[in-house]
Order: sequence, then structure tokens, then C-alpha cells
Amino acid sequence: MLAAGTVPPIEGAVGRYNCLGRLIGSFSFFVLFVLCVTQLFSIATTIVRVIYTTNLQTLLLNFPLSKSVYPTSRTRDILPKPIHSHNDYWRRVPAYTAISYGCISIEADVWEYSGELFIGHDVASLTRNRTFRSLYVDPLREMLDSQNPDTEFTHPRKGDDEEPGEPVGGRNGIWDVDPGQTTHLFVDFKTPGHNTLPVVIAHLEALRTPVNYLTYFNGTHVVRGQITVHLTGDAPFDSIVANSTYRDYFYDAPLRDLSNGRYTPNNTIVASGQFGRDVGSVIWGRGMTKEQKHIVRAQIAEAHKRGIMARYWDTPGWPISVRNAVWGVLMQEGVDLLNADDLKAASYLDW
Ligand SMILES: *[C@@H]1O[C@H](CO)[C@@H](O)[C@H](O)[C@H]1NC(C)=O
Ligand SMILES: *[C@@H]1O[C@H](CO)[C@@H](O)[C@H](O)[C@H]1NC(C)=O
Ligand SMILES: *[C@@H]1O[C@H](CO)[C@@H](O)[C@H](O)[C@H]1NC(C)=O
Ligand SMILES: *[C@@H]1O[C@H](CO)[C@@H](O)[C@H](O)[C@H]1NC(C)=O
Repeated sequence: MLAAGTVPPIEGAVGRYNCLGRLIGSFSFFVLFVLCVTQLFSIATTIVRVIYTTNLQTLLLNFPLSKSVYPTSRTRDILPKPIHSHNDYWRRVPAYTAISYGCISIEADVWEYSGELFIGHDVASLTRNRTFRSLYVDPLREMLDSQNPDTEFTHPRKGDDEEPGEPVGGRNGIWDVDPGQTTHLFVDFKTPGHNTLPVVIAHLEALRTPVNYLTYFNGTHVVRGQITVHLTGDAPFDSIVANSTYRDYFYDAPLRDLSNGRYTPNNTIVASGQFGRDVGSVIWGRGMTKEQKHIVRAQIAEAHKRGIMARYWDTPGWPISVRNAVWGVLMQEGVDLLNADDLKAASYLDW
């Protein structure tokens, strides 16, 4: 019997509420517990890190970016390589692209029309906006200016041409890791030489003034600069050497004609051979023949004997195995500039 006034417990419902409450309670407790443990763990790891991290690592982690960028960092980490970037007109900003791969040599195919020099491989590819100055001269000048900041530390700076690897004339070249390395600019004349030459000489002006970055011949000696200009294609040798007291451009002499004695380091810094014509074609699966290797060796030796650098163009581009085999032989034989259309392949190949 139940006492009066007592309400009979509603057994089932209360039991259910109790059960749910306990469940929520233990779940909240569990969540809190997990949160606490994670917090404790992270505090503990921070303490451990602070205690055990070396001072240098802490410095690195906290060093502000504004203090770590230096003026000439544009080409930092890029290793200059003896590669000549061929068929440059394919690239959007040819000079920057070639330099980003570490090519120390670039080429501009120029077409002269009424005093302007347009860039392209054939007439159909020319446009008003792609000129020798906009794609080559100005970008090179801009890079050189940024590698030679006028700061309290550099100004005034004394030149020192004598030490190998030192910046020439006290100025840096394009390569941050090797400021003494010149950059070769081949200008390939696609229009008649006597009209094109004076325009090319005039359009190099931004690399000449107010700061002279060009390698020049002063009548007796060649003085190395940050950019060395080579004239090729329809470039006329006789007009190039007409000024015997000062010139800041050089002739790209034919490698196979060096023995005639016209070409000396006073007028020719690099001589080039057309691979297909001078050496012949290379058959897939066979590689270069003994005779072909002999030709290459003899031509390179002839150039080096005269203090002239050697380059081949028109080297096979395909099949890839033939291209790589030829590149390998040329490097082994001591070629000074390796012609490449595929800059990525040439710069990353495991020689
Ligand atoms: C050439 O450059 C000018 C100025 O930068 C621009 O307005 C024009 O659209 C460009 N023309 C072509 C064909 O790209
Ligand atoms: C370069 O030119 C100077 C002056 O004409 C001459 O004395 C010198 O022999 C030339 N150098 C070479 C390698 O021909
Ligand atoms: C040419 O350069 C050489 C080497 O730097 C120097 O000794 C010579 O005086 C220069 N000649 C002229 C005419 O400037
Ligand atoms: C050679 O070039 C220099 C520099 O441009 C110039 O001052 C000189 O008059 C030129 N000499 C001749 C003979 O053209």
C-alpha cells in the first residue's frame, strides 16, 4: 500500500531520463578530457621545443622576411651553365626565360624595318611590340641594374679586373652565384647586314650608357664586361671590324674557317660551327662516328689554340637519344657553349 500523498513513481520514464543524462554527462566529460589532454600535450611540446630547439633554428623560424631579402637576390640559386638558348623567339620573355634556366648565352633573331628591330624567326611572326629592345636590351639592363644596386656599401666602388671570378670593373654580372660570369648575347641578322648593323649598334645603347655593361675592344685589348655581344647571321665582318680603335660587338666566326687568320680574340670571342654541315648527320642507334668525333675535336682545338671559344648550332634535336649522345660528346670534347632548344632538358640532364 502506498502512503497518502505520495505519487507513484513513473518507473519507466525516470529511468530513461537518468540514463540520457548520464550519457550526456559522460560524453561532455570525455570531450573536456580530450581537450585538456590535447592542450596539455601542445603545451608540453612547446616547452620541449623551446628547451631543445637550437638558437639558430629559433632565429630562422622567427626571422622577418624584410631582413632576409638582399639587393642582388634576383638570380640567387641559379647556377650559370654553358648553354646557349637557341630559338629564343619561342619564349614569352626570352631573356628572362633563358636566364631562369641558367643559360649564359641567349640569341635574338632581328629583322630591321625602317630603323626598328623586330624579333622573330620569320616575317610572319613579327609584331610591333616584340622588339630587340623590349625583349632583350631592356630586360638585360634592368637585371644588371638590380644586380648593381647603388647603396652606401657599393658606392663608390673600385674596379678590379684582375682577380678571376671577381666582378668585372667592380660591377656584377647577371649571376648572383658568379658575378664575374659574362652573359653572351648573339644577335642573328635576318635582314641585309649593312642596313641592320648600324641599327643594332644604336639599339645597344641602353647597355652602354649611363653604365657600360658591354665587353669591348679598346684598340689593343679586350676588356670584359657583363654582356658580350656577338653578331651572326648576315652580319658583315668587314664593317664590324671597320672601327679599329673601339668596338663593343664581336663577330661569330665560322668554326671551320679559323685557319685563314682573319679571326683573333680582338674580333671574335666565340666561333660557331653548323653541326649538320661541318660534322654530318648522326644515325639513330649508332651515335657519332669516330671520324665525326675527330672533326669536332680538331675544330675545338683550333679555336682554343687561338683563344676563341667554340659552339655548334644545328645539333640534332630528335630522337632524344641522338640529341643527348651528341651533347655528351660535345661536352666531353670541350665545347664552350652547348646549343639547346629544350632548355629544361639541357639544364637538368645528368651529365
Ligand atoms: C602593344 O603594346 C601596347 C602598349 O603596351 C598595347 O596597348 C597593345 O595592345 C600591344 N599590342 C599587341 C599587338 O600586343
Ligand atoms: C689585337 O690587336 C692589337 C692591336 O692591333 C695587336 O697588337 C694584337 O696582336 C692583336 N691580338 C691578336 C691576338 O691578334
Ligand atoms: C685598353 O685596355 C688595357 C687593359 O685594360 C689598358 O691597359 C689600355 O690602357 C687600354 N687602352 C686604351 C686606349 O684605353
Ligand atoms: C670608333 O668608335 C668610337 C666609339 O663609338 C668613336 O668615338 C670613334 O669615332 C670611332 N672611330 C671611327 C674611325 O669610326
